[in-house]
Amino acid sequence: MAGTFITFEGIDGAGKTTQIELFTARLTAEGRSVLRTREPGGDAIAEAIRSVVLDRSLQPMEALTEAYLYAASRAQHVRQVLLPALDAGKTVLCDRFLDSSLAYQGYGRMLGAERVLAINREAVGELEPDWTVMLLLDPSEARARMHTKKLDRIEAERLDFHQRVYEGFREIALKHPQRVFLADAALPVEKLSEMIYAAWKSRG
Ligand code: TYD
Repeated sequence: MAGTFITFEGIDGAGKTTQIELFTARLTAEGRSVLRTREPGGDAIAEAIRSVVLDRSLQPMEALTEAYLYAASRAQHVRQVLLPALDAGKTVLCDRFLDSSLAYQGYGRMLGAERVLAINREAVGELEPDWTVMLLLDPSEARARMHTKKLDRIEAERLDFHQRVYEGFREIALKHPQRVFLADAALPVEKLSEMIYAAWKSRG
């Protein structure tokens, strides 16, 4: 794999999209060829799966169905988008990846991280992020930040669900300190962006 695979993770309302935009601009300024993409989604089929899995009118959805839909979208995205871009030497910035399934379906839906990992094994194959930025914020503060947004099926879940997702992300970060940069999303946008870039520059 010639390129570099960077993922952004974190709870809903932590400001992930803004930080990816700022980080993309910084890496592009370095002269890197950057591809920005997202999960669930990234190509027409994976985006179609996204619209099913986030549709609030499709109720009730089994936790297992949800886990398979995210994994199906990932199987498509890995093969159609991520691997070709990485093979071509690009720096790929992905808004969410496997850690989101472990946190949301494994912890949030309580399927268990092991089971969710097993469901995703074939979907991801050997692909692993080189570096991950994880944005964490107290779930009630994150919810308050989203008050004007039309919430999707996952965002609309109760606070205790988001609390479990938060704990899941924290455990993943503690388990992979080399790969994951844990960032405090309560910081002002510019400050946070600078810290992320400094961490990227100084990573071993
Ligand atoms: P996201 O793109 O971050 O939402 P938005 O467009 O509102 O910024 O993610 C969509 C939702 O999907 C988010 O609530 C997290 C959830 N999700 C999972 O539950 N499992 C997964 O594997 C992924 C990738 C996302």
